[in-house]
Amino acid sequence: MELLYTVNPGIEDIASEEIRAELGGVTSFEKMSGHVYHVVDNVSFEAIYRLRSINRAFILLFKSRVGPRTNDLVKLREELVSSLETIHYYITPHTSFAVDTERLGSHEYTSMDISRIVGEIIIRKVEEKTGVKPVVNLRTPHIIIHVFVRDENFFLGVSLTGSRSLHRRGYRIYDHPAALKPTLAYAMLTLSGTRDKQVIVDPMCGGGTIPIEAGLLHEEALIYGYDRNPKHVRGAKLNAYASGVYGKVVFGVWDARRLHVIFDEQVDHIVSNPPYGIRYGDPVVIRKLYRDFLGSAYKSLKPGGRLTIITTEYNYVLKKAGDIGFRVIHKRTVQHGGLYPKIVVLEK
Ligand SMILES: C[S@@+](CC[C@H](N)C(=O)[O-])C[C@H]1O[C@@H](n2cnc3c(N)ncnc32)[C@H](O)[C@@H]1O
Repeated sequence: MELLYTVNPGIEDIASEEIRAELGGVTSFEKMSGHVYHVVDNVSFEAIYRLRSINRAFILLFKSRVGPRTNDLVKLREELVSSLETIHYYITPHTSFAVDTERLGSHEYTSMDISRIVGEIIIRKVEEKTGVKPVVNLRTPHIIIHVFVRDENFFLGVSLTGSRSLHRRGYRIYDHPAALKPTLAYAMLTLSGTRDKQVIVDPMCGGGTIPIEAGLLHEEALIYGYDRNPKHVRGAKLNAYASGVYGKVVFGVWDARRLHVIFDEQVDHIVSNPPYGIRYGDPVVIRKLYRDFLGSAYKSLKPGGRLTIITTEYNYVLKKAGDIGFRVIHKRTVQHGGLYPKIVVLEK
């Protein structure tokens, strides 16, 4: 069976590793492509829902290349007609379906053009095989056929995760205005190398995504989440309750610039998503926050402890971190909310 997963661009390797560890088989990916390709004999769909790093999963039915011109769709149409021979296994006269197309890159045609072509071919193929036309239902379909066009790459699959991305994990009762995707929180914890029995702190936790993912990942870690805004701390507690990790995380109102007052060289991992300057407004204020936070984080960490942050202010962070005494042990660009921040792992 061939499966395709969509992931946040920049964490394909982490998702690939998780998929292989949890489901077996062979995986491959291109960096920053937003996809992981997976070949496996048998797979438990429940295990797919438990993956922490993926957005969506599909059974891959067709993959090809398509040019950017409207004329290129003629060849694609022919290929689809000869390739979708088994589509009636998934879409029968008793199931309704919708085609959902995601298109990235520069093309003469639109997502709607693709959806229309694929929809027409599916209807024709199912009718040929069963004698009955399947029903299109764009609002509440039984089956979603997902098409993904990224530049010249074309993928078509049956969605295993419905219309909602798994990154919208069910625990988001409180919606923080600048929430981090849980998949990126998982990636940050993995890159930091958090383990059971360690002290893990997010001193700017907002709606609690990072501490919650840490609670889901570890049985016995000592996890703390703080924010200076009491409203976010109340929200984070609600989210933790909904996710089932409430008893595993200590939440409180505190200023990240004074973290060392609570923890004096006691923390193994500080994993955090501070405000991005671009959203904060004043660059002087944000730099002061970063400078003071980095200093306090350094004092709070055990020798060898790690600070892992996601930030658009990475040039400033890398410079200041060096001045303070941190060693940079990893950095990478990811895509998040239309921006390209870096995840930076620093070691004391
Ligand atoms: C980008 S948001 C974090 C979002 C969070 N990762 C989530 O998924 O909900 C940054 C958070 O930092 C908090 N913050 C800003 N300055 C702070 C400070 N000095 N001390 C503690 N929290 C602070 C803000 O209140 C905000 O909730």
